[in-house]
Amino acid sequence: MAFWAAFLCTLMVLLLGGLYLLGAFRRRRPNEPPLDKGIVPWLGYALDFRKDSSAFLSKMQRKHGDIFTVLIGGYYFTFVLDPFCFGAIVKESRSKLDFVTFAAKLVLQVFGYKSEKTVNSTIHAFSTKHLMGDGLSLLTQATMDNFQKLMLFKLSSGEEKRPWQEAGLFHYCYNIVFRAGYLALYGTESYQTTDNKEKAHEQDLVHSNQLFTEFRKYDRLFPRLAYGMLLPKDKAEAERLKRFFWDALSVSKSCQKDNVSRWISEQDQFLAGIGVPDYMRDRFKFMMLWASQGNTGPTAFWLLLYLMKHPEAMEAVKGEVEKVLREYGQEVKPGSPTVNITRDMLDHTPFLDSAVEETLRLVAAPILIRSVLQDMSLKASGGTEYTLRKGDRVALFPHLSVQMNPEIHPEPHKFKYDRFVNPDGTRKDFYKNGKRLKYFNMPWGAGVSICPGRFFATAEIKLFVALMLTHYDLELVNDKEEVPAIDSSRWGFGTMQPVHDVQFRYRQRV
Ligand code: HEM
Repeated sequence: MAFWAAFLCTLMVLLLGGLYLLGAFRRRRPNEPPLDKGIVPWLGYALDFRKDSSAFLSKMQRKHGDIFTVLIGGYYFTFVLDPFCFGAIVKESRSKLDFVTFAAKLVLQVFGYKSEKTVNSTIHAFSTKHLMGDGLSLLTQATMDNFQKLMLFKLSSGEEKRPWQEAGLFHYCYNIVFRAGYLALYGTESYQTTDNKEKAHEQDLVHSNQLFTEFRKYDRLFPRLAYGMLLPKDKAEAERLKRFFWDALSVSKSCQKDNVSRWISEQDQFLAGIGVPDYMRDRFKFMMLWASQGNTGPTAFWLLLYLMKHPEAMEAVKGEVEKVLREYGQEVKPGSPTVNITRDMLDHTPFLDSAVEETLRLVAAPILIRSVLQDMSLKASGGTEYTLRKGDRVALFPHLSVQMNPEIHPEPHKFKYDRFVNPDGTRKDFYKNGKRLKYFNMPWGAGVSICPGRFFATAEIKLFVALMLTHYDLELVNDKEEVPAIDSSRWGFGTMQPVHDVQFRYRQRV
């Protein structure tokens, strides 16, 4: 009898515990945002969210308004789509809203890197030091040198023009921008190991191309890897790729390189100094490769495509770049040296700046996530005060709530290269309901987790586009072809990718 009573009690506890975990007892408490658990226990809306996060959130916004809580794979996410609340969330103290807990889980899953809470702020300080200010000038110059190596080939005497070449624009832009950025950050082949400069350059070209090929394989698997939804075959491939990158970027290999950026070398020295083992430092470098190279190339693709589809924008940007070159005593003409664009020159291109920002508005779509560490309140712009529950997650999706909001950006689906700049070169203000907005475009995130590489990324994209416009003839193979749709399986991870590539022709001018 006692046995059966104990057995039934255990069964009840397990059943109730199971139901609790599945979310069966969760009820909306007073002052909490609308709660929608969907109909599938535990999973909630995981499949709809994974399929097309933007479409799903847009549907939920129509149903519940700007602030709502949904169940996704066992976690309760409160989405805040009211842009006037963004400041309160991104500036909230770390004791209430924490970025690190969620990020640490993700980076362990996708890069095998186990992050230590205590080192995060020091690591962030290295980024501030080397990706901004004087460090940025050095990096911009290194990237320029590598673009020249990758893109600008000397003509042999007597040769008129190079022949047209055809390629996929996405592949071309991603490849060149990845390789120039990678070589600038992770260093180049040492002349000593190859005997001479030419051989070292040749090896840089071959090695960076191989690395890009493998990076793209990983890139394609990335969203499903992050969601833990890879099939066994793909899982094995992701493991192989991780090992490939850990080895390619390893401490032992990178110490043989020249010109390793201070951003990479000082972070690595710091980790070594506090006793982080070599294998974990290799993984850290892989994580940084992803952060630094996964978005810049795709953004350069969209910008170049939009310029090619909008002749008035192309003319304005090209004219601006040529004017800056002239002002700095440079010109692209037969026999003259290849142009050298410096960080200082990049500070005088308001139309190009606006075109980059407009491109990011259209295609950069991160989801910013914080863990709620204690119950807290959040005041919406309409005056309602909501309670956010400890243990839940808060998420922002600025692409939907501000970047594509027609109230803030009229005709949001259109590319308007000068959307962010006034005719006199000053920056425009943006409003919602007549109130000025602080957060009207958030490709870089905001607050504690804001992208520390944003100035470097912008410089890379501008250098690449400026060189393409000044040194190359460019045309789409089919100029009637529409801009391809966005691949909706990648919402939330940064810059979106197209569902297919676009063929183009290019020819170096002189
Ligand atoms: C167009 C290019 C880029 C875009 C759209 C972009 C976007 C972002 C976003 C949205 C975040 C924040 C994620 C979050 O809050 O969860 C982020 C973080 C980060 N980005 Fe970028 N990024 C770009 C290029 C770069 C480059 C070139 C570098 C470095 C050279 C870089 C380094 C980082 C790092 C280290 C973090 C993590 C910051 C932290 O955890 O505190 N990014 N990026």
